[in-house]
Amino acid sequence: MSILFDEKNMTFHLYNDAVSYIMAVLPNGHMAQLYFGRKIRHKEDFSYLLETAPRPMASYFFEGERTLSLEHIRQEYGVYGNTDYRQPAVEIIHRDGSRVCDFRYHSHEISAGKPQLPGLPATYTEDGSEAETLTVVLKDPVSGISLYLNYTIFWRGGIIARSVRLSNEGTKEVHLAKVMSLCMDLPDSDYEMMQFSGAWARERYVKKRRLEQGCQSVGSIRGNSSHNHNPFLVLKRPSADEFQGEVMGFSLIYSGNFLAQVEVDTYDTSRVLLGIHPDWFDWKLEPGEAFQAPEAVMVYSWEGLNGMSQIFHRLYQRRLARGVWRDRPRPILINNWEATYFDFTEDGLVQIAEKARDCGVELFVLDDGWFGARRNEYAGLGDWKPCRELLPDGIKGLSQKIENLGMKFGLWFEPEMVNKDSGLYREHPDWILHVPGRSSSHGRYQYVLDYSRPEVVSRIYEMMSEILRESRISYIKWDMNRSITECYSPALPADRQGEVFHRYILGVYDLYDRLTREFPQILFESCASGGGRFDPGMLYYAPQAWASDNTDAAERLKIQYGTTYCYPVSSIGSHVSVVPNHQVNRSTPLYTRANVAFFGTFGYELDLNRLTGEEQEEVKKQIRFMKEYRLLLQFGTFYRLSSPFEHNMTAWMTVSEDQKVALVGWYRMMNRVNAPYARIRLKGLAPELYYEDASAGRGYYGDELMNLGLLTSDSSSGEVIGDIKPGCDFDSRIYVLKAV
Ligand code: DGJ
Repeated sequence: MSILFDEKNMTFHLYNDAVSYIMAVLPNGHMAQLYFGRKIRHKEDFSYLLETAPRPMASYFFEGERTLSLEHIRQEYGVYGNTDYRQPAVEIIHRDGSRVCDFRYHSHEISAGKPQLPGLPATYTEDGSEAETLTVVLKDPVSGISLYLNYTIFWRGGIIARSVRLSNEGTKEVHLAKVMSLCMDLPDSDYEMMQFSGAWARERYVKKRRLEQGCQSVGSIRGNSSHNHNPFLVLKRPSADEFQGEVMGFSLIYSGNFLAQVEVDTYDTSRVLLGIHPDWFDWKLEPGEAFQAPEAVMVYSWEGLNGMSQIFHRLYQRRLARGVWRDRPRPILINNWEATYFDFTEDGLVQIAEKARDCGVELFVLDDGWFGARRNEYAGLGDWKPCRELLPDGIKGLSQKIENLGMKFGLWFEPEMVNKDSGLYREHPDWILHVPGRSSSHGRYQYVLDYSRPEVVSRIYEMMSEILRESRISYIKWDMNRSITECYSPALPADRQGEVFHRYILGVYDLYDRLTREFPQILFESCASGGGRFDPGMLYYAPQAWASDNTDAAERLKIQYGTTYCYPVSSIGSHVSVVPNHQVNRSTPLYTRANVAFFGTFGYELDLNRLTGEEQEEVKKQIRFMKEYRLLLQFGTFYRLSSPFEHNMTAWMTVSEDQKVALVGWYRMMNRVNAPYARIRLKGLAPELYYEDASAGRGYYGDELMNLGLLTSDSSSGEVIGDIKPGCDFDSRIYVLKAV
């Protein structure tokens, strides 16, 4: 890994074993992007890559000269108003109302390691040798605003992490109307754009489209990254697939409003912009103040989509997630939500826990409904005191009872919300985001606390930490069940209202930061009505996230499959629930529900007492299996093999680091009669190793499994003969392959 600067040609070349990133200072001091892709040999001069031929209808930067048009040259951090007509990376409104910026190279610095971003989640290094960081400082001579562009290259793998800071070193205040974290101009537009979009209960569906001239984008202005879109975008060559070809992934480490956009211009160059959504953003920057934009990560892979995902998985698992749980297999939990909803008693909960303990479950999680007047959705949020009628000995007593059973105890909170029917709201009606004099919209009868106010965050911190200190809590599920409306903080002046969305999420990060510091042993799982805030910002504090409120196995295949494009299996909260399923009313076999949930953090969301004896025995087996293989399932090298968005059959697999053990998940939605013989070609195995599938009593060489494939045909390929179990709808299998 190295960052080289050629003074004569004013060119930077960042490279490691996998990628090169090259940029240069233009004659006007602006920065041009020259190359991002597979590593190339270093040379002093790459200036031939600058596109400077004059073109009709162009505008030129310097008087009397016709080569330098920012419109034709790929920019490093595009500005609008002085010859570049594409969507800019930054927009500043100066005190005189003008919006032109002219950021010129001032200096740069190369340092070992990677600095952290104040108040924001970001990837990190454990020692200086893991990465190198380049900071390029540009200055706008008229306003005195400095722009710090940070680029971190990790010692290996196709990763560049970027962030941007603006500092007002002038004498007048300005308003930042747009500060994107990443601007990347690519030389052509021969790409398919993949986005991960959906809705509540169908999060992160895979969607693909060819890039076309103009802007194509996804984003959120809901205050949370959202169920609808994810702050993650992929550009792939049309010929690239899961296993080969050029792919780039762009991911924003942020949990609030975002914009991910690709603009294809007249000359077929593509500008990727990723950052805080500029709509509803307006940050006042006084002289002496600085604004730090969130970090964005770019990944380049020539080994297709799986190659890209594996790079993200490693990075987000090892250098974004933190704390004692980062590398640990996750406890198998039981959550009472779908078992009881709000209708529970302490005895009932203990009975659920007891049966779960008997089956091998390790952690009991008490969900919504344990505090204040929270017997339904209408009341109680904001009053984080246990309801004594329900829990006579409080959370302290219940957590102790659960620990006495030999299990750990976990608790649900929704710290950002309040019901009007609550002590907190009655005491502080002005603590919600609202526009005075206008009505406030509710979501699920709840209102959003104004986390832009430090006193609100502190009050919630005090309530939560009191319970955590006095009770025996090993896990927290942090929920967030509505998006923001009427985004206004009465505590801020009129000209700072455009800051509220961002200040809100900084407040959320602040609370997470305080709690994770004070209670480092607690495992946090983030949740936002399921997968409404499944983003890298959350993973920094909570290494796992509830992927969706949809627990149906067939639906979950899609949701989890889509999620793995960016996020590691260890981060995907996945539970087995009852049938008929509570979201889609579908019945799937118990083994299929588990076979899907195994590729995640794994747990149960039901009352095991209500299963038959036979089913309880099956659950015990599932738990034994998960305990044996969870390290591999959650932390192995994961490959998608066959997509539920394209096929009746879904398959994925995970391989141990030493390639000696592999688990293959095979899932078929509709059974087929007299179907063709089916094989799946596996990936990531050692060609020369001989793998045994003990359940089938068969063995295969790695090269055989990867080229010829694993035979998955069953009786439904032909007739049902003898004692061969016929297949069924929603069938599935896990193949365990061990090298002997
Ligand atoms: C939404 C979550 O996603 C569910 O799992 C559950 O915790 C409910 N909220 C509780 O209100």
